[in-house]
Amino acid sequence: MVKVALPLDKYEWHPSMLAGQIVLVSTHDAQGYPNVAPKSWVTMVAFTGPIVAFGCNVTHVTYANVRETGEFVINVLSESLAARAWALSDLHGDQRLRESGLTVVAASNVAAPLIEECPAHLECTLDDVKVYGDEVFIFGRVVAALIDPRCTEGTPLDQYGRLAPVFFLEGGTFSGLGPVRRVQQ
Ligand SMILES: Cc1cc2nc3c(=O)[nH]c(=O)nc-3n(C[C@H](O)[C@H](O)[C@H](O)COP(=O)(O)O)c2cc1C
Repeated sequence: MVKVALPLDKYEWHPSMLAGQIVLVSTHDAQGYPNVAPKSWVTMVAFTGPIVAFGCNVTHVTYANVRETGEFVINVLSESLAARAWALSDLHGDQRLRESGLTVVAASNVAAPLIEECPAHLECTLDDVKVYGDEVFIFGRVVAALIDPRCTEGTPLDQYGRLAPVFFLEGGTFSGLGPVRRVQQ
């Protein structure tokens, strides 16, 4: 199969080769003031921990808060709320939370808040940070994993259908999961 080379500038990759699940990362600052920001460069890292990680710019409030408090929550965004991610990232500070229509509630094992409208949450404590210039990859240890019980009922098709994860592709582009299938073994 013939392949064409793309430039090594990631902004020039169309299509982007790695879709990233859109999550809302919620944090708080040293005074307890909450912040929520969409992130999509997010991944599981290790079963043991478990460890998760996400990419962030060093100028972002999220990074400052994680450094200050050592905690964050990864809130899974459902496809029905995908457009909300873009609306959120265009607003900052007080205005973002006020106009987001999202509800900040207490988490179970960390002081960082949860986003009520999201169906699942990974409460994390900071494990490590890897710096790449202005960008960082933030590793967290999951200390609590919570999910809407409706997402745990029925077949995998039912469960993923209710969780309805959504993926960032590029620019203002996203996609849902599509059909859930099982390999024939
Ligand atoms: C769908 C979507 C995905 C995003 N993914 C990331 C990401 O993975 N890493 C990142 O640093 N910013 C990402 N952003 C941009 C941040 O959300 C945006 O810069 C935000 O203003 C940062 O907020 P904060 O300063 O409160 O952390 C994304 C934005 C959108 C809309």
